[in-house]
Amino acid sequence: MTTETKQTQQSVPRASDEAQLHLNQRGHIIQQPGTIRNLPIALDEQARLDNAKALNQLLADTLMLRDMYKKHHWQLAGHTFYQLHLLFDKHAEEQTALIDLIAERVQQLGDVALGMPSDVMSKTKIENPPQGAEEVPVMIDRILEGHCVIITEARAGQAVR
Ligand SMILES: [Fe+2]
Repeated sequence: MTTETKQTQQSVPRASDEAQLHLNQRGHIIQQPGTIRNLPIALDEQARLDNAKALNQLLADTLMLRDMYKKHHWQLAGHTFYQLHLLFDKHAEEQTALIDLIAERVQQLGDVALGMPSDVMSKTKIENPPQGAEEVPVMIDRILEGHCVIITEARAGQAVR
């Protein structure tokens, strides 16, 4: 090894353990949902816990409704296809914007925002539609029911202090 090579090797900083990728490994969970990190946001722990719980329910149902809009956007058929195809996609985008606000508020309160489809399925109060395509009036009925579930939760959530 030349002197020049030795100097190059010595001048390259070694990555700390924290910066190293842990390939093919799973880490331990650092926070369980339903627990609260201590954050200085002028809200007591119980209030943050209650609000985060209500918002995580709202998050699950809003994710479900967003995905239902997309499913129906794709599976539509018939003479109203064009208008509803565009409308359902627009509404899905609006739900996506809400989802981000709700999830980030859960995190700001110190809890853990749910985010995976399996979490949504275990928590949502909105009925899971079948994989198959349904008729347009049924699609619209399912969407309206989903909105009703969310509105009811939002009203109940206003009572949470
Ligand atoms: Fe599309």
